[in-house]
Amino acid sequence: MSKKLAIVTGGTAGIGLETAIALAKAGFDLVITGRSKFKAELALERLSVAASNAKVEWVELDLSDLESVRFFSRWLGIRKWDLLVNNAGAKVERPFKTTKQGFEWHIGVNHIAHLFLSQVLVNRGRDGARIVFVSSIVARRSAGTVLNDYESQSPGVAYRDSKLANLVTAINLGKVLAENNLDITVTMAHPGFTRASAYGTKLIRAAEIVLAQPASKGAKPVISACFSEADVYWGPKYFQLWGPPTQVNLPESVVSALDKGDIWSDSLGEIRRYLAGELRPD
Ligand SMILES: NC(=O)c1ccc[n+]([C@@H]2O[C@H](COP(=O)([O-])OP(=O)(O)OC[C@H]3O[C@@H](n4cnc5c(N)ncnc54)[C@H](OP(=O)(O)O)[C@@H]3O)[C@@H](O)[C@H]2O)c1
Repeated sequence: MSKKLAIVTGGTAGIGLETAIALAKAGFDLVITGRSKFKAELALERLSVAASNAKVEWVELDLSDLESVRFFSRWLGIRKWDLLVNNAGAKVERPFKTTKQGFEWHIGVNHIAHLFLSQVLVNRGRDGARIVFVSSIVARRSAGTVLNDYESQSPGVAYRDSKLANLVTAINLGKVLAENNLDITVTMAHPGFTRASAYGTKLIRAAEIVLAQPASKGAKPVISACFSEADVYWGPKYFQLWGPPTQVNLPESVVSALDKGDIWSDSLGEIRRYLAGELRPD
């Protein structure tokens, strides 16, 4: 019988790579994705040393382009998967920019593309499969204005909203899968404050060096979410910034966004329009 297959978006660096290493050691074959071939080669090297028995493939997947998601789906073909870790993330990137299909960058990459990816792959999930969404502690500070007027807001607001949308999507997707009697479950995780690939200002980098936990520790909540019971949210134990993984409560912002009930339908609406050819790539 073939080994279980895990797909880790952004599995070429940081938390995604550490998660991929843990999954390879746990006996999964792996598909890791990212844009940079250079990062991929380094990641494949580390994975081959850490878990030489795992079959690991890298596929270029650019989450700022839904055509790339479609390409990935076609590349996977009829293969079945057991674990999909929606981990890749654009950090706060300035100035304002949009994805290929015109979504605000953070919303498009972190939220829309992962929602779309989950949708296009769902029929190829094996019974008992799991989807994990990787969010952030900053989701609690989102006002839930997802998909509204980003040109007049800061990229930081968009990043927070995208991470809130990850959680709302996870909850709603879990419900939809259960309603349709699909044996695929969903969990969520956030890595607290973790030192991963270099980004941001010198001040952020300095703070990371002094205060953040290594990516191997930041990945632990994500790894817990791969194997725990369904519908739970994992984060680090101490102030939700550092330490061993523990189950954490969903922030109030998620509860209120779920009450409003607009994020899921808006996002689906955008994707439906795209698929129907109403939203065209440039
Ligand atoms: N580090 C933290 O403290 C922290 C805190 C809260 C939440 N998170 C979340 O944790 C997740 C992983 O973050 P990390 O810190 O490990 O980040 P990272 O070290 O920067 O790694 C990000 C990964 O995502 C890929 N990626 C980035 N943009 C992409 C795009 N447009 N399309 C496709 N792939 C893309 C990168 O590969 P390429 O660049 O080659 O594409 C890389 O493999 C993210 O969702 C992030 O929001 C991290």
